[in-house]
Amino acid sequence: MAVLTSKEKKKIQKKILQLRVAIERHDRLYYKDSQPEISDFEYDCLKNELLHLESLLPEMVTGSSVGDDRGGNLLTRKHYTPMLSLENTYNLDDVFDFDARIRKLLAIERDIEYVIEPKVDGLAVNLVYEKGQLQYALTRGNGIEGDDVTDNVKTIVGLPLYIEHVPDLIEIRGEVYMDCEIFRKINAERIQMGEVAFANARNLASGTLKLMDSETVRSRHLKILLYGIGMGNDLEKQNEIYPFLRKRGFVSQTYYHVVVNLNGIADIIRELDGACKRLPYTTDGVVFKVNDRTLQEQLGATAKAPRWAFAYKFEPECGETILRNVTFQVGRTGVITPVAELDPVNLSGSCVARATLHNADDIAKKDIRIGDTVIVEKSGEIIPAIVGVKLENRPESGLEKLVFPTDCPCCCVRLIRLPAEVAWRCPNADCPEQIIQKIIYFASKTAMDIDGLGEAVVRKLVEIGRIKTSADIYTLKKEDLYFLGNFGDKSVNRLLSNIEHSKKTELWRFINGLGIPSIGEKMAKDLANYFHHWDALVSASMEDLGHIRGIGQKVAQGIFDYFCDPKNLDLLQQFQKIGFEFEEISVRHNPNFNHKIFALTGTLQQFTRTQAKALIEKNGGSVANTLSAGVDVLIAGSDAGQKLDVARKKNISVWTESDFVEKLG
Ligand code: IVH
Repeated sequence: MAVLTSKEKKKIQKKILQLRVAIERHDRLYYKDSQPEISDFEYDCLKNELLHLESLLPEMVTGSSVGDDRGGNLLTRKHYTPMLSLENTYNLDDVFDFDARIRKLLAIERDIEYVIEPKVDGLAVNLVYEKGQLQYALTRGNGIEGDDVTDNVKTIVGLPLYIEHVPDLIEIRGEVYMDCEIFRKINAERIQMGEVAFANARNLASGTLKLMDSETVRSRHLKILLYGIGMGNDLEKQNEIYPFLRKRGFVSQTYYHVVVNLNGIADIIRELDGACKRLPYTTDGVVFKVNDRTLQEQLGATAKAPRWAFAYKFEPECGETILRNVTFQVGRTGVITPVAELDPVNLSGSCVARATLHNADDIAKKDIRIGDTVIVEKSGEIIPAIVGVKLENRPESGLEKLVFPTDCPCCCVRLIRLPAEVAWRCPNADCPEQIIQKIIYFASKTAMDIDGLGEAVVRKLVEIGRIKTSADIYTLKKEDLYFLGNFGDKSVNRLLSNIEHSKKTELWRFINGLGIPSIGEKMAKDLANYFHHWDALVSASMEDLGHIRGIGQKVAQGIFDYFCDPKNLDLLQQFQKIGFEFEEISVRHNPNFNHKIFALTGTLQQFTRTQAKALIEKNGGSVANTLSAGVDVLIAGSDAGQKLDVARKKNISVWTESDFVEKLG
């Protein structure tokens, strides 16, 4: 290595310090707040740059850490053996270097056997069993001690609380994660409720695991996959761990390869990657592990990572495009969402023309400006995000700094930020845009399903002052609609008849339409199934609400407060006069549908999409918006397009409309 001049050294020292500050900040955002600002890829680039610079100046190495996810609210406990991180790369050549380094460290020429397995994109936990009994569960924390998340981990369905044929003390390690489908549902509900969406399933899983309210945690259906043993590992090979764990009732790795050397490794990785894409959860690469545990022990670990394991990660799909505009949208709860309007770019097979900019802090930190070349990332999740700016492409004449509004773009009332929230909100309950969004939501497919009462009509009716609340919809007369123009006799009659028909609907639709904080479609169904009658819900005590599975203290308080607020009571009184007739939904647990996830494509002859969805749900199934991993059955009507090909490729069962009718029984 060339000798560095003192000027070069100073420059590197400065850069190392800058990188450490930046990494520390991103660690805090990722591990503690579960709200990262940069993608894993960008983070790994920073880390790898730091490692590279530290290798040039070994005297600057301070013994790097593994990050720290401890939050400060939970009890902490020490791990029996440290929980380390993994060295990682995005470059296949490094995998061969890793193998060469291992052979050099062990001073052996022969081939080394490796296990290659999916890298689950969740958060690491350590389960401590004493005399077979689950004593406690810890997050990785700082590697030495972690947060005690035992109550939350115990909500995970199927996790064994007692195991047999194990040493008196055993640490079982793995990853807590959330299935993409659950993530999509929860995030879609958050967006519908005007809350800030989570960036990805991993962040939602990690935010969930740190909640103080186990009932909410239970409602989020976390899962766990175990792949390692800390203290108490008597096995000789890494690949014996998985059947060992499975025999004791754990979910463990099923897709893994044992290879005797690295010949043909690219094909194996490709095959594993294909298998990973079909999994219902996100993986972000593969992990190589030396199979022989004696060799693992000989190799040991650095302060940060074992020397016997290594992660090869896949780059997410990114694209470059131009940011044309940013609009600031007001949601129905007043949250302001900045939305980037982009020159369309093709990512993971879909055309992306809009992306989220998350929040004001995000815009300021990235210093994104209109006209900039931006990097858009879409990693399987629903919302494409802007992850960076190519400053080098910015015209020399510069671009104007993007300013987040201080006042509501609709009613000009000064925006506020609630403590511990990243979102800015318009606090004005009379803000026309909030009123419009609330009514649109009330009439939407997932609530009262009033066909014909879409955004354009609602907007006009609010703007002319004809309606101010969702209840006012039911006072509309023919002349109000004629007054809007664009309406002929037929459409006026149809809309008024749809409004009239909506009075006879399922209770959950009405509950969902009200926009009670934290209540989306799923929770509205749970409430309707529990209380059956509207009056019972309105007069429910905190204790009654506390009995409902999946509803935690905070949500219960939100519901209770909603029914105490005089403004809401006024609205409910207006509704009272309308005379709704609520039908009960009774779920029939039809084995053809129960617990299965369905997707729909093409045109069905006998049912609308909404009717088909209701039938699936009435029979115990659920419906996904996309043909994502986790979907069990695709129901294909006529003119089914690309989804049908995808389903066939992914071996998802396909039902025709007549299969569907037959299975309904
Ligand atoms: S083995 C000593 N195997 O990735 C660490 N880790 O980026 C040994 N991870 O902290 C870990 N899937 O939380 C291992 N199949 C897998 C994994 C896995 C996900 C996580 C784990 C680790 C992180 C490092």
